Amino acid sequence: MRIDILSVLPELLHSPLQHSIMKRAQEKGLLEVHLHDLREFGLGKHKQLDDYQFGGGAGMVMMAEPIAHAIESLQAQHTYDEIIYMTPDGHRLDQPLANRLSLKGNLMILCGHYKGIDERIRDHFITLEISIGDYVLSGGELPAAVLVDAIGRLLPGVLNDETSALFDSFQDKLLAPPVYTRPADFRGWQVPDVLLSGNFSLIEEWRLEQSLHRTRERRPDLLEDPGEGERE
Ligand code: ADE
Repeated sequence: MRIDILSVLPELLHSPLQHSIMKRAQEKGLLEVHLHDLREFGLGKHKQLDDYQFGGGAGMVMMAEPIAHAIESLQAQHTYDEIIYMTPDGHRLDQPLANRLSLKGNLMILCGHYKGIDERIRDHFITLEISIGDYVLSGGELPAAVLVDAIGRLLPGVLNDETSALFDSFQDKLLAPPVYTRPADFRGWQVPDVLLSGNFSLIEEWRLEQSLHRTRERRPDLLEDPGEGERE
């Protein structure tokens, strides 16, 4: 999979994408992430990217022209399955959406700043708008890093133990069960006996019960609406 990210602060994305699983995905050639500095498409001697909004109001708006040029220069080289804009008023990112995007070949992600981007870019170029939650961040870079991580770890071959992504919380609309490692006794706090029993069908049963219990306690909404979050 190839992901191109357009941003005024591409440096913000370097670190999150250069460690751990994202690093491994790229080293294995399963994921290519290309960062593009929108400033290079800025207008005039000052490489201007934003301007006052029509109608008045506080906050600058990212201008249509530099963004359109940046998107078109990438479109001249590749075909994109989705051109995504990270914005708090987009579709809420969830596991079904991450799953669906992990099946695509080429994605472009546009990170906004200031008061947002000229609406005409959203109307004419953007095919999907994504929010990572109901709160406002200073820009779309951290949300883009979240999205790339959520997608990248799903690509076949990225995780060592491929089954581990299948058992993540939310994959089956259940939260993951508790996990333990050595020692079996830490300060007198014991690991549940069943996990030490070696009886794998009992262990599976216990894990499912724990998942259901945890989901009922913490996220009953996941159990209530089986179709929730599914989109196409
Ligand atoms: N940009 C600013 N806040 C955001 C959010 N919550 N999700 C996606 N993009 C954003």
